[in-house]
Formats: sequence, C-alpha cells, structure tokens
Amino acid sequence: MKPGLRVGHDLVLDGGAGAGPDGPPAGYGLGMPVLEISDLIGAWDPVTGERAPIVKREVIARLREAGHRRAVRIVERMPASGELLEPAAVDRLFVRVHTELQRLGEELHMARRFAELLAPLVAAARRAGASPLRIVDVGCGIGYVTRALAASGELGGDVELVGVDFNPVLVAEAARLAKDEGLTCRFVRGDAFDLTEPATLYISSGILHHFPAESLAGFFQAQDRPGTAGFVHYDIAATRLAPLGARVFHRARMREPLGRHDGVASAKRAHGDPVLLDAASQTTGMRVFLFEPIRHTNPFCASMRPVVGIRPELVEDVRRALGRRARGLVGADGVREGAGGVREAAGRVREAAGRVRDGADGGPEGAGR
Ligand SMILES: C[S@@+](CC[C@H](N)C(=O)[O-])C[C@H]1O[C@@H](n2cnc3c(N)ncnc32)[C@H](O)[C@@H]1O
Repeated sequence: MKPGLRVGHDLVLDGGAGAGPDGPPAGYGLGMPVLEISDLIGAWDPVTGERAPIVKREVIARLREAGHRRAVRIVERMPASGELLEPAAVDRLFVRVHTELQRLGEELHMARRFAELLAPLVAAARRAGASPLRIVDVGCGIGYVTRALAASGELGGDVELVGVDFNPVLVAEAARLAKDEGLTCRFVRGDAFDLTEPATLYISSGILHHFPAESLAGFFQAQDRPGTAGFVHYDIAATRLAPLGARVFHRARMREPLGRHDGVASAKRAHGDPVLLDAASQTTGMRVFLFEPIRHTNPFCASMRPVVGIRPELVEDVRRALGRRARGLVGADGVREGAGGVREAAGRVREAAGRVRDGADGGPEGAGR
C-alpha cells in the first residue's frame, strides 16, 4: 500500500490499571487489537482520492489475528475479483451500512443534540462578529447530521453547512441525498487531519474512536485556526455499559452484519474521558469540556457524548445561552458550578487526566498513524 493512504487504525485495549470508570471497561481484549471491518476494506489517497486495491486475504488474516471470528466470516462472504475485494460491492456495502447508521442517529436524536449546543455557539460567534458563519461536519458519512441541521434551518439561514469525509462514495451519496431533499448544504472529500475547509465550528459524530490516542491531539489542533470559534465532537462514551448497549442497540436496529460487528467494536474502542480531554486541551486557543446532557437520561442515549472546545472569550456567553444545561459542561480543571454529581465527575476526570499524563492509564493505545 502506498505511504500516506488513509485507512483505519488498530486500537489495542490493554485493560491496564487505569481501565475503569474513566477509561474503557477492563477485562476484555487484553493486548488484542480491536478492529473495525470498515477501516480495513477501503483506503484512499488523501490528496487525489484515488482508491487503493484491497487484498481480501490480507484483511481476513488481520481479523483472524485479532480473534474476530465473526468478522472473518463476514469478509469471507464479500465478492472479490481475483485477490482483490470488488470495489463496487464494497461501495454498495458502505452506503447500506451508513444508511443504517443514519437511522441509528435519528433514533438517538443526534441532530437535536448537536443543535442544543450549536445554537448557543453560533449565537455567540455571531455576536462576536464572525462572518461568514460555517459549520463543517468532519467524517460526515452520508451527511445525516449536516442534512438534518440544514433541513431544520434552526441555526439560521446565514449558516453554511458543509460535510467532509475521506470516502468519496459516501461524499457522493451525501450530495445526492441533499439534492433530492432540496437542501443547500454541500459535501466535499477531505481528510480530518488536513482540513482545507475553514469553519466557524467543526463538528463530528462517531469518528474519534477511529483514531489512536496519540493522533487525537493532531485531530483537534487541525481545528484550532483563526476564525474558528469552537468544536463539538460526539462519540461513544467509554463507559462499562457502552459495549453491552452497543450490542443490544445494533442487534435490534442494524441488519448489516458488518454494521453490527463494527458497532460493538467501536464501543470497545471508545477513548476514555481523560484521553479525550487531554488531547483536546492541547489546542492552544480553546477551553475544553465534556458535555453531560442532563436532559438525556436513557443510558443508551447517554452513551453518545461530545467533547466541546470554545474560544475563551465566548465561554460565558455560551454558558448564559445554555442556562441550566451549562451545568453539563465538565472541564478537566473541575472548577464547575452545579450539583455534586457534576463536581464528582469533574474530579474523576481530573484524577484520571493526571494518570494519563503519568502514563498509568489503561485507555486505548493506537498503533500509530
Ligand atoms: C462511524 S462513521 C460516522 C459517519 C457519520 N458521522 C455518522 O454519524 O453517521 C466514521 C466516518 O469517518 C470517516 N473518516 C474516518 N477517518 C477519516 C479521516 N481521516 N478524514 C475524514 N473522514 C474520515 C469515515 O469515512 C466514516 O464516514
């Protein structure tokens, strides 16, 4: 494979001392990489978008080595031309799986959850004179969140909505759906680590766990640029319940075996709070929080939670606009008003962040970008 191709990454759960309430659940996958099939069956040159051929038996060997027997059977059944996975079949599979992911996103009210944070952030940026206003959804897939925000219009007609993904097939499908739906949002191919689209706010859903811990700082830093007011990145919270919740939810709601496998794998790969906060805090110009939406008490819904970055001068404005919900903003420094539960959570985050810095955390480790 040519150097520089964008593919998924292996994450290894070591189940070490730090695994627990702030890290991924301990006790499974000891020392084994957790792989998602979707990360292995597609690769593209980040600059040209040119597709790399994928050798089927190599994908199977990697999944077998990782002990993912069901995933091996799924890839064994995929069509191939000679040694190579059939690109057209892979593309159709990507679109089917992402269509199911959209249904999941709808059930979890992801667009509403984004709007809850984006409305105050956009308003604060607007008051601070930001113009034009643009939201860029990084790793947008078929663009469900971007399209839903565009359809609702609730962020205002002056906000441009753009989706970016490194998979050209998903970008094309997102653009096709937006056109069918009569929406003005647009979709472009691009790399999360080398963003060409400037934005007032960057957002994403379900992408952080695709990157190894040591790459996360680079992901956030790519968004710490002049004119950017903040970011909101939702991903699965690495709670003890997350893999079980993902198993139940994906079994109930997904028909594609690949989607079921990857859904559970993504919950196992989710980064712990301290890893996320530590990485996001390496942006020099943002104050960084986790947001615990007090409104969503269903444990499956609570399993999606964002890392939020806000320019310091906008923080108070955003807090005011959030009202009571501002208590859900939990920062690594733990200095937050609000109920004991939030204080306790902030304390746990702070302690665990210390463990990460001291190298004792058992969170997911990447195999390197
Ligand atoms: C789990 S999917 C989530 C899709 C969508 N955000 C959603 O919530 O349905 C992860 C997406 O991230 C994209 N992706 C992964 N790595 C990327 C990168 N380096 N740059 C841009 N997109 C990336 C994948 O192509 C995929 O569409």
